[in-house]
Amino acid sequence: MGSDQTLHHHHVLLVSFPSQGHVNPLLRLAKHLASKGLLATFSSTHHIIHKIHKSTGHVQPIDIGGGRLRFESFTDGWEDHDDPRRSDLNVYIPQFQTVGHDSFVQLVKKHSESGTPVSCIISNPFIPWVSDVAAELGIPCALLWVQSCFVYSVYYHYFHNLASFPTVDQPNKSVELPGLPTLESDEIPSFLHPVYSPDKRVLKDVILGQFKNLEKTFCVLVDSFEELERESLKPLLSSAPIIRPIGPLYKWKEEKDVRGDMWSAAEECIEWLDSKPVGSVVYVSFGSVAVLEQQSMEEITRGLLNCGQPFLWVVRPPPKESSKGGGRLPDWLVQQADGKGLVVQWCPQERVLAHPSVACFITHCGWNSSMEILSSGVPIVAAPQWGDQVTNAKFLTDVYGVGVRLLRSENDLNTFSSERVANCIVEVTKGPKAEEFKKNALKWKKAADDAAREGGTSYNNLDKFVMEVQALKQ
Ligand code: UDX
Repeated sequence: MGSDQTLHHHHVLLVSFPSQGHVNPLLRLAKHLASKGLLATFSSTHHIIHKIHKSTGHVQPIDIGGGRLRFESFTDGWEDHDDPRRSDLNVYIPQFQTVGHDSFVQLVKKHSESGTPVSCIISNPFIPWVSDVAAELGIPCALLWVQSCFVYSVYYHYFHNLASFPTVDQPNKSVELPGLPTLESDEIPSFLHPVYSPDKRVLKDVILGQFKNLEKTFCVLVDSFEELERESLKPLLSSAPIIRPIGPLYKWKEEKDVRGDMWSAAEECIEWLDSKPVGSVVYVSFGSVAVLEQQSMEEITRGLLNCGQPFLWVVRPPPKESSKGGGRLPDWLVQQADGKGLVVQWCPQERVLAHPSVACFITHCGWNSSMEILSSGVPIVAAPQWGDQVTNAKFLTDVYGVGVRLLRSENDLNTFSSERVANCIVEVTKGPKAEEFKKNALKWKKAADDAAREGGTSYNNLDKFVMEVQALKQ
């Protein structure tokens, strides 16, 4: 292995907001950039890099293709990782902005001094200050938008005041945007709604801050693919900066499996899936952040047991400081589930979705999961909670036709009964429309494969980006 200075010409520094839903696409992109011959440094907070190291064991530099991947960390100002105030985004995000700005500047400067100056910084949502740092230091900056083009379009039109949105006086107003189906008031990203997600208002500010700072960004990369988002993309093509869909990022062929899990994945669930009949298992996961109401946990449990199909359920222990409680597995399930289901705290989701035993996925519709679903050919039962998940659920069901909606959002608990859970599972796996859901799912899987393979739209878009980076001053 040569030194970083001798082997590589262009150095891309990727910086991830400290959350699994951001780490995964950023790290996947870093691997692909390394495989195209660049030096790609994946960076995030000390806490995140420590967690990745603990659960995967690998944060050492690694040669991939003609390039190299490295991990680095900087401080977010929280020395005590267990400080419960960290989980309050209204406290965490402003502090991260202040401390992160300075410590990230130090990180970038360290590279110039050590002979590997940064040619390009790649940022992602919730940290608009990264493009300020790039501008201050005179380094070109790109953004990896880790959600869909249709959600980007909603925020874009909101930020530029190009359409009318629900207000306090008209909270039920639907939204009409070019290239998108009519969105009911509970189908726009919930942070933009005047009533929903009041505890996450700070996320609206940082996302809109990102749109304000787009003038400091030369390119927006999106973890999506053109074939999926043709209509959503059309009105954005004339907007600046240029938008390049380069996904599904996890589909890119990798020589080495470098993962960014923040928790150890229960590999034994693959063996458990091997023991189940083809197309029989209900996979259930609500991603890395959402904490369900306790009543919802109980209803899902009853629904899973009533429908009689085996199930694999990822239940992460809720954070100690979780204000609303909930998120716990009912005690009685532990006895009753024996033999019928497997509950784990974290699983290798990509491998689970690719497993032939999986019949359907009850999902919160985070965009990473949505991309993995559309690339795996698995029908879904959508149970979105907040943010972009509610819009993703609308598209996955009504536009892409890969399943049904159990919930419209976390505010929609009135439809959440165990009977409805069981009915939705039956509807997507055995009902009259089950075949159509599966057919659509397989159609999107093929489109995703085509986009990611050599010569495909996403493959070419990433190549164009790499050429742009290679043309930058070192
Ligand atoms: C967050 C937001 O909630 C989401 O709406 C936004 O689009 C991205 O950031 P998160 O809630 O964690 O993400 O969901 P998701 O986007 O689906 O990302 C979760 C990732 O963790 C996926 O890549 C999934 O494969 C992975 N995962 C999840 C595992 O590897 N194992 C698990 O057990 C569960």
